[in-house]
Amino acid sequence: MTEPVPVIRKLEHALADDDFAWSLLLVGEDQTDKLATLTGDLRGPVSTTGDGKQITSGFSYWGIGPTIAWANATNDPFYLVMKAGAESFLRHWRKVRPHVENGGFHLVSLGVGTGVKDRTILSDMRRHNRDMYYIPVDMSSEMLRMGTLEPVRGARFPVSQVLPVQLDFSIADNMDELAQMLARLVGKDPILFTLTGNTLANFESDEELLSTLTRVLRPQDRLLLEVASTTQLDQASADAAADEYHQTRAFAEFVTSALRYNTDLKINNDRVKFIGEVEDEDALLVKILWQNDTDAEIRMELPDHTEVVLPIGDTIRLYTTRKYSTTRLKRLTEACQLTPVEAIQSQFRYTRRPNPFGLELLLLAPEAAGESAHSLADDIWAT
Ligand SMILES: C[S@@+](CC[C@H](N)C(=O)[O-])C[C@H]1O[C@@H](n2cnc3c(N)ncnc32)[C@H](O)[C@@H]1O
Repeated sequence: MTEPVPVIRKLEHALADDDFAWSLLLVGEDQTDKLATLTGDLRGPVSTTGDGKQITSGFSYWGIGPTIAWANATNDPFYLVMKAGAESFLRHWRKVRPHVENGGFHLVSLGVGTGVKDRTILSDMRRHNRDMYYIPVDMSSEMLRMGTLEPVRGARFPVSQVLPVQLDFSIADNMDELAQMLARLVGKDPILFTLTGNTLANFESDEELLSTLTRVLRPQDRLLLEVASTTQLDQASADAAADEYHQTRAFAEFVTSALRYNTDLKINNDRVKFIGEVEDEDALLVKILWQNDTDAEIRMELPDHTEVVLPIGDTIRLYTTRKYSTTRLKRLTEACQLTPVEAIQSQFRYTRRPNPFGLELLLLAPEAAGESAHSLADDIWAT
């Protein structure tokens, strides 16, 4: 009797001959654990400042409702920063690209979103490495399906070289497992990891996230980091940063969608507050929170059918974001032993008055990569 052929080897042929829109997904974590985490976070202590109950990064995009809401927000023509961001990304990427064109890089995209940026990166990288793999990693399976369509259909990246992975990359054990799997998949070939769209800024501790990610970089790997930036650090700028998110209805729909889909809370957009502050004297922090500003307590049912009482003034943090100063970026990258190989910054020019905000794209190497990057680092951080 002949041995059965492993299903995974037969799958590629089985799917290639079918017109139906199959997509392959590697699920790294038990999704019931994720729901339990979200439920626990929504049961947090009472706080009037958005520091008790919360929806942490990843959960704001988790599930089909938030995924559609995110896609709508990114396409909203009134979300000017998003539009400016998409345009500046193209210009910035062209300058970074020469550093990752040679050597046979693969791409691991941490937080795929709508996949528009991955489409650009992949079509450029594949010209130099036809055999490259594309591994988008995201907590949301729906986001993975939507985000990978863009490069696969839009840029004709071969589906047989795509491996979407559903995983929470903020958990150190998950990153260790991912790194081991990747090493078995690509051997010693270099990997370009990307964390774009200011995703770093969504985490309560951005330093902890960055160090969790960079711990798995090998000397030959690189990290492409895109963050929102500011040249001013005062309360007026923090208020302006908060205002930026307040302007679009589609963003308000997105930011409340996780709460809408996971609880029975009736959400009135007037109860959503956008609060800006200067954080650690080197970044602007924006907290977006729902607040019970009525004169009575409100009851909210959680996914496990338990009830939480929201007293007058209590808040639920819906989203965290930041704008980084050069000082903060230098502090973060040094703490994580990362050296900049290239850094490109541009200011937003869509307002009539001078605007301190912009976007920055950094290509980073682990310090173990060698000396050549060090002299560049001095120039980059001196600006
Ligand atoms: C701000 S969007 C950025 C999307 C895209 N990279 C871009 O530049 O437009 C953040 C993405 O990261 C994913 N994400 C956020 N936190 C995550 C986590 N802890 N683990 C895995 N994915 C996460 C979200 O689902 C979403 O797709």
